[in-house]
Amino acid sequence: MNHDWIVSYLRPRLLRNDGEHLSRQLYRQLRELIRLRRLAGGSALPASRALAQTLQLGRNTVLSAYDQLAAEGYLESRHGSGTYVCDAFADDAVHSPQTDAPARQLSLRGRQLAEASRLPASKLGAFVPGQPELAQFPHKQWQQCLNRRQRNAPLAWLHYQHQGGLPELRGALAQYLHLTRSVRCEPEQLVVVPGAQSALTLLAQLLAEPGDIAWIEEPGYTGAQTAMLAAGLRCQGMRVDEQGLRPNPDAPPPRIIYATPAHQYPTGAVMGLARRLELLALARRHDSWIVEDDYDGEFCYTSAPLAALQSLDRDGRVIYVGTFSKVMFPGLKLAYLVLPPELVDPYRRCQARLQGEGSYLQQAAVADFIEQGHFARHVRHMRELYQRRQLLLRHAAAQYIGDVMPLQGGDAGMHLLATLPDGFDEWELQAAAAERELWLRPLARHFLDTPYRSGLVLGYAGIEDHALRPAVQQLADLLETRLK
Ligand SMILES: Cc1ncc(COP(=O)(O)O)c(C=O)c1O
Repeated sequence: MNHDWIVSYLRPRLLRNDGEHLSRQLYRQLRELIRLRRLAGGSALPASRALAQTLQLGRNTVLSAYDQLAAEGYLESRHGSGTYVCDAFADDAVHSPQTDAPARQLSLRGRQLAEASRLPASKLGAFVPGQPELAQFPHKQWQQCLNRRQRNAPLAWLHYQHQGGLPELRGALAQYLHLTRSVRCEPEQLVVVPGAQSALTLLAQLLAEPGDIAWIEEPGYTGAQTAMLAAGLRCQGMRVDEQGLRPNPDAPPPRIIYATPAHQYPTGAVMGLARRLELLALARRHDSWIVEDDYDGEFCYTSAPLAALQSLDRDGRVIYVGTFSKVMFPGLKLAYLVLPPELVDPYRRCQARLQGEGSYLQQAAVADFIEQGHFARHVRHMRELYQRRQLLLRHAAAQYIGDVMPLQGGDAGMHLLATLPDGFDEWELQAAAAERELWLRPLARHFLDTPYRSGLVLGYAGIEDHALRPAVQQLADLLETRLK
């Protein structure tokens, strides 16, 4: 029996340094395959030694998973011939309801969602995409803002709030967005949200019917795909070129178009004016909403950021999403939306019911942090730091990796995209790199369907200057043995 598909299924699902032992992960994944009948009763499993070798696991890791599955009655070993899925699993009636319960509890959508929501190891360090420089955040000033607000907090802030965010913060943001992105809005159009991801999830539910089409970038931000799936939308991947999302005129009309025009995630393409106008015209023709995700627009190194797509929108179909995750820190869980006026009230009501509004105390502290100039200073400082780190990464890569892995991504953001030869096994490289505490993100993760190119998303913002070169050297070593 050909076991290649089992290996391809398992490889991306086994996460090193995930906190859960690999034998436990392997046990869970195989159990799921058996429960879902993808491994039918009577079918043979790969030999433990071969599986360990292909997946680069210890043999004991595989044996321990097989033993556990055998102890629970999923597998049996037949002397001299190998390990098989128990025959009992060929017959649905024999299947004990208790054993089957977790698989049955999930809806089909739930299963798709869980599948699409693969979590990277929550590690800090070399190449983690989206990790800001956390050590150099002005912790003292932030603490002072929090303390002062805590001392004077009105009792109402300890209760539920339904205002779409603290008015003070909404006012500060409206001004900031107008100055830095030419966003046109009244403070009333701003809604403070508990993270951009929550906003994408709620927008998909609010704006589309289950079964409607959402265009998402491919490669693109997986969180957008998950948000659309959660609302029962059908995702249509739109290829990305050097201008970002390239609309496919033959694709079915979308209800929602999700795009990152300022700095396409993860390729780094910047959408020029002509493409922006084309996208707006297309949205008008199809009567679609555009969700503009401006997740790291502050970090533009050679020029001021382009004006937001929202600023070109004449008929109120662009929803602008911004986040504090990159400019402050992700653990803050604070982001904001600029909504067309007619969406503000429904959005606020649904948010209050479905997600809640987050902490007003924290929002007040952020308003002060902006007002007192700490925010602008920090962003300026990080912009210089990240620009320097990007250059360091580019230089080290040119020296050690050169032609094999060209970097792409423009002069912006917190990551670069490293291109690998087509068909390169990024998952295997990721696993090997994790052994050396290098956290690589395969580009393959960012595709809806079969990836049409290979690469790695390399975060550089959170790596100390002196650690960048050695990290690139280690990556070069790993690549060298694989590209010979
Ligand atoms: C493109 C993009 N959009 C949105 C987000 C999520 O932002 P938040 O942390 O506010 O949910 C991320 C986080 O990595 C991102 O990369």
